Amino acid sequence: MSNTTQSTDRPTPGTTPPGQTPYSAWIQTDTLHSLQRTVSDHPGEHAWITHVQVSELYWMLIIKEMQSAQRFLRAGDLPQAYRTLQRVSAHHAPLDAIWRSIDWMTPNDLLAILSRAVGTYGQDTALQGWTYRQMVYLFGIKQAVHLQHFEPQPQRLAQLRQALAEPSLYDDVLAYLQRRGMNVPRALLERDVSAPYAPSKEVEQVWRDIYAAPDKHSELQQLGEVLADIAQGFCNWKFRHLMATRRTFGARPAYFGTEGVAWLMPTLEEIPFPELWSSRTFIGDPPPVCPHMAGQRR
Ligand code: HEM
Repeated sequence: MSNTTQSTDRPTPGTTPPGQTPYSAWIQTDTLHSLQRTVSDHPGEHAWITHVQVSELYWMLIIKEMQSAQRFLRAGDLPQAYRTLQRVSAHHAPLDAIWRSIDWMTPNDLLAILSRAVGTYGQDTALQGWTYRQMVYLFGIKQAVHLQHFEPQPQRLAQLRQALAEPSLYDDVLAYLQRRGMNVPRALLERDVSAPYAPSKEVEQVWRDIYAAPDKHSELQQLGEVLADIAQGFCNWKFRHLMATRRTFGARPAYFGTEGVAWLMPTLEEIPFPELWSSRTFIGDPPPVCPHMAGQRR
């Protein structure tokens, strides 16, 4: 598993660097607050940069947590994997809430900042953000086309190529379910995991079986529910982003020269863990006769 996201430079115990307090040394406040370099005089640019940087931090946190969950699943430690995934679900709350801090933006505000950013650094797109892409690959949404944006960043390109070629969190969940005796096809687990995931009727049946016997499979149903929480948190973020785009950008053409909103709309259908959702059509026993009809017959 890619370890390029792990912190390896642990400080020596018992040392506080000169000129630091224990708090500033641990939290790295001086470095943290030196990272906001505005490109415009717009009074809201700090809010914009803070919003994006905080989102970056949370995406990185989610990556680390999901990698931990993968390790726990591989070790067969479901309770620890579950606790870790609960944290992943929780981290989506601040990611969602932080949109509020840029709701004040009008198209005038956004374009005043963006035009200065383009003038300073060139044409940017958030598709150049590697944390979001690695997180999405870990969800199992594998699209190699996005790698094109990282040519200028060879180290990140290599990191993302590795993430594309490695099993996603969902792959590890399915492998775990198979080891627990569920009928996940071996061919699916041995496929080329760098290719886009094709939903499978057999995996859909696995989730149906788990939810059909909640007493027998209570732990696995809990696993399914925390994954559903995570997918929902991610999709909520995507919807908030779409609305922020509509609000500040209208129907303008964006990075690819086509309407930005039209580019974004189909991505809302990219929902992680697809069979967990499709199986819900078949979960739960409807009463054999609709109660209203039964009433009419009497
Ligand atoms: C509010 C003003 C914003 C507008 C008008 C906007 C617009 C867009 C557009 C048009 C795209 C599609 C690709 C492109 O043409 O660049 C996009 C993608 C994206 N944006 Fe934004 N964006 C905004 C804010 C943000 C913020 C604040 C973040 C991060 C916190 C962000 C993160 C992303 C990500 C991660 C993608 C890729 C989505 C995917 O692959 O499905 N955007 N944005």
